[in-house]
Amino acid sequence: MRIEELLALYASHAAVDSQEMLARALSLPADIRDGSERYSTLVDELPLPRDPESVIVAGMGGSFIGGLFLQDALYEESSKMIIPLRETGLPGSVNERHLLVAVSYSGNTEETLRVVLEARRRRIPTVAVTSGGLLAKLATEWKIPLVEVPSGLKPRAAFPYMCTALPAVVEAAGLVDGLMLKLKEAAGFLENVKQEVLDAGNSLARWLFEQYEAGNFPVVYSYRPFLSAGYRLKTQINENAKLHAFFSEIPEANHNEIMGWEGPFRFSAVIVRAPGEPPYVYHRMEFLRELLRGRGVKHVEVHAIGENQLQKLLSLFYAFDIASILLALLRGTDPAPTATIDSLKKYLEERIDISREI
Ligand code: PA5
Repeated sequence: MRIEELLALYASHAAVDSQEMLARALSLPADIRDGSERYSTLVDELPLPRDPESVIVAGMGGSFIGGLFLQDALYEESSKMIIPLRETGLPGSVNERHLLVAVSYSGNTEETLRVVLEARRRRIPTVAVTSGGLLAKLATEWKIPLVEVPSGLKPRAAFPYMCTALPAVVEAAGLVDGLMLKLKEAAGFLENVKQEVLDAGNSLARWLFEQYEAGNFPVVYSYRPFLSAGYRLKTQINENAKLHAFFSEIPEANHNEIMGWEGPFRFSAVIVRAPGEPPYVYHRMEFLRELLRGRGVKHVEVHAIGENQLQKLLSLFYAFDIASILLALLRGTDPAPTATIDSLKKYLEERIDISREI
């Protein structure tokens, strides 16, 4: 289906898309190109210690996914460990020879601010990635290198900027070379395969919608180095479509969770696949698919496309972001608001004032 036809198909639902999240998701290739141009100069300009022992990327929710993406993108390439962190503090083993990248789109997320405060106490070199808030203020006051992302977006819609800003940071720290160029190439690739990705996103949205109507909630199965894409689908279904979805990783799920398919269940499954799976992955995924088939579990496979890791990973993000927003529209739900998260944040703000701890 052509892009115009697809938009026409969803036109009657589009009224509920108050912040044009679908248009935003469709513009992923252009936004990645914009991000890679915006941040390429950082590679030479950011005043960072070279060759840290590891890079810890701290953030929550929509600001966590960038670190997980980076870990997958560079899983085989990076000279040092990239550790995504979604906690209120740093592990004891992190010291001044490591690098902390603190990511908070709003700049006001308590968990991430706590990590930054702790890093300051423990003299751990830090970079801040944010659109503003307290994190930007602290970065300016404390002379922490600051990478600004465009404001006015939902944190999860800022992914194209996160997924270009974070590579610029690790390239500046000397962990990899030529990554920004590869991102620009990947943006061109995504532009070329837009139609294919859109079709995949549309079929997945319709399939998920049918499953929800039948009372089945999806478990998304993925494996390294595509965990971030599977996890993205789960969290995008949660936040855009306001529905439960669960995420599981292979091979670990083979050693416990798959036993659950012997009992009664109200789940369906989405299986993430990619070209060039090594035999030790391929056979596990085939076993899983056959197991689901044998147990009568409704399941669907979504295949990455692309020549290299970045292209494959981003093709999945692209399809999944579109699918989750189309699913929201099919349900007549506005993808943008996250009222329950907002009320949690308000509740916490009324009880905990982190600015008093600075
Ligand atoms: O998507 C969302 O709105 C959330 O998952 C937020 O990203 C999360 O609450 C953290 O906030 P922030 O990204 O502003 O640090």
